[in-house]
Amino acid sequence: MRILHVASEVYPYSRTGGLADVMAALPAELARLGHQITVLSPWYEDLAGDPRELWRSRRVRLGEIMRDGVRFLFLETPDFKRGGIYHDDDVRRFSLWGQLALPVLEEAGVETDVLHGHDWAAGLVVTYGKLRGVPSVFTIHNLQYQGRWNIRDSFAWTGLPEWMETPQQVEFNGDLNLMKAGLLNAGHITTVSPTYAQEITTREYGEGLESVLQRRQAQGQLSGVINGLDQERWNPRTDGHVQPYADMAGKQANVAALRAELGLDDAPILSCVSRLAEQKGLDILLDALPEITQHWNVVVLGSGDPRLEAAFASWAERSPRVRHIMGMNETLAHRLYAGADAFAMPSRFEPCGLSQMIALRYATPPIARRTGGLTDTVPEDIGFLFDDATPQAFLAALSDAQAVLADPAAWNQRAARGMPLDFSWEGPAREYLAIYERVGGKG
Ligand code: GLC
Repeated sequence: MRILHVASEVYPYSRTGGLADVMAALPAELARLGHQITVLSPWYEDLAGDPRELWRSRRVRLGEIMRDGVRFLFLETPDFKRGGIYHDDDVRRFSLWGQLALPVLEEAGVETDVLHGHDWAAGLVVTYGKLRGVPSVFTIHNLQYQGRWNIRDSFAWTGLPEWMETPQQVEFNGDLNLMKAGLLNAGHITTVSPTYAQEITTREYGEGLESVLQRRQAQGQLSGVINGLDQERWNPRTDGHVQPYADMAGKQANVAALRAELGLDDAPILSCVSRLAEQKGLDILLDALPEITQHWNVVVLGSGDPRLEAAFASWAERSPRVRHIMGMNETLAHRLYAGADAFAMPSRFEPCGLSQMIALRYATPPIARRTGGLTDTVPEDIGFLFDDATPQAFLAALSDAQAVLADPAAWNQRAARGMPLDFSWEGPAREYLAIYERVGGKG
């Protein structure tokens, strides 16, 4: 099958979160299974890669990089000639971009049997796919970002026919909503875990789109396909950023090394590698710090919400048991997975989550909220799961962990169970292939 993925970020060329990782690993696995895979994303000015120019017109160009048997295509429009990834005018930028995507690929001779769009930035491409009769699948990685803008100003940006300017199509409470456009016009909707696929049909998690999702679910057109993990990039046995290990003795050497590197005392280490966002429950971690730091060292790697950044930075200044490192640092990320005793993931919602899978394989039990993909991937006999999105519930799970930590043999046995867990992409990739066939994709 000739499958075209469309997304706003792709590792290693552009990344703000887990979406980018999926856009590297899933296409590579589909290619390995014998399919012809193209990934289309924007040609950002500071892309971490150097595409070969494939096609150009006066204002638009298309570049190509081949990697892992996958053809990565980068489409540049004038609005993308600036630094960074996301900006305040993204609804306009991605509307014009999405309008051009399929016509440009056609001119460049790229043929597609199935279109697979990811998140709101691909919503318009999926909508155009429907108008052109291309079978499609749309995957929700994060329902909170929907690509909304006052429809009176924005509808013209889409280039769509006028009859689509209705609540039955791309309108939502007076706004253009590109996520909704994708949800209504794709042949099938998926999200990245079975539990989250259920959750988003409820008011609590539906972000206002629950009735659209309920309808598609009732038609059998909503399902959950769990993400895999790039198990070569995240393998404690071969990891060049740490002291590679295959057992708990090796793990302890990494804990000692991290303790020394960061100048931490003897208390156990709780780490967190995350965007600093309310979604991830970082405010819950923050509010629990006065109690947590009585028993744990806490190391947080990540940036995001300026208010949370400032709060963690100020904690790090005041408390010898708190460290906060801004931004993304690949080496340090690996060391935090390998060198912490436990991993914090108090997410308010979590479509899938990748960190908990990494932490499990690095024998670092997750302390995680029982929601979305965390429910589906963290075994109850390894991690410590809690229900309420409150500091109290999180602290209760942490004290359960402390109780086990007091018996090192019991802890080691528990943590080691995570190391052989298999989060490979093959199963999920085969599930997507079955869905591509269902929507009418023919190879
Ligand atoms: C988004 C979600 C996260 C998921 C990732 C990849 O970042 O918040 O839960 O793992 O997409 O699907």
